[in-house]
Amino acid sequence: MKLAGKTALVTGGLGGIGRAICARFLKEGASVFAADLSDANALPDATFIKLDVTSEHAAQAAMETVRAQCGQLDILVNAAGIEIEKTIEQTTLEQWNRVFAVNVTGTFLVSKYALPLLRQSGSASIINFGSYDGFIADPGLAAYCASKGAVHALTRAMACDHGPEGIRVNAVCPGYIDTPMLRGFFRDHGDIDSLEAAVRDVHPTRRYGTPDDVANLVNWLASDEARYASGQLWVLDGGLTAQVQQMKL
Ligand SMILES: NC(=O)c1ccc[n+]([C@@H]2O[C@H](COP(=O)([O-])OP(=O)(O)OC[C@H]3O[C@@H](n4cnc5c(N)ncnc54)[C@H](O)[C@@H]3O)[C@@H](O)[C@H]2O)c1
Repeated sequence: MKLAGKTALVTGGLGGIGRAICARFLKEGASVFAADLSDANALPDATFIKLDVTSEHAAQAAMETVRAQCGQLDILVNAAGIEIEKTIEQTTLEQWNRVFAVNVTGTFLVSKYALPLLRQSGSASIINFGSYDGFIADPGLAAYCASKGAVHALTRAMACDHGPEGIRVNAVCPGYIDTPMLRGFFRDHGDIDSLEAAVRDVHPTRRYGTPDDVANLVNWLASDEARYASGQLWVLDGGLTAQVQQMKL
């Protein structure tokens, strides 16, 4: 029960990774708000908040709900995210702006309006979602790669500004995690079985990640055990980005 007595809000809280984080936080004793676009896939023990992270008004309203119900916030996880698979030439301005609105502006807005509540915590933790794609590029994912690089920079800036107020800020940067986002990627590229095998084989650990793998790291970063951890980009990728591409001899 590492999070007993703490209150957490997770954006994208009913998506693949967000849902696993909410479930883990509940197991660790936290009160949990799962914020997402719809409650189609609601989690029984978490309080659902309808939130479009691109809306300033909705971000303010979400924090008002947390204040009214709990009076405090200790943990914010910015997990809402979208991707589009296109080069810059194929990307319309509208698509570019949408990716940045959800992945970057959403992280900015929700964090901004969470700050007054997080300050009251005394030992608060914000966990943003970057990606290994913010360090190295997957082909045909230009707007997404750029948006995750922006989240990485924003994470460092937030950690510098708000560390003195008792708020730690980190980003988790996953590799391939088995969620609807990854399933969508497999679906768009043909034969799922051979794609799954190819993705497994490209990892030194010969597996890709699960949402629970991510929740394990997020749970630690959220807890007071991580009190000295801030301003960092935590890559979780089964060794994927540690290797150079092998020549086929
Ligand atoms: N799955 C992976 O392989 C992977 C790898 C690296 C990084 N990530 C990042 O992890 C985070 C979670 O991804 P996931 O795989 O769980 O994706 P997912 O598609 O399963 O879940 C994303 C969630 O975000 C919500 N969402 C989308 N737009 C929103 C908006 N405007 N307002 C509020 N909620 C919104 C969706 O409804 C969904 O529930 C994302 O930021 C993603 O970029 C995922």
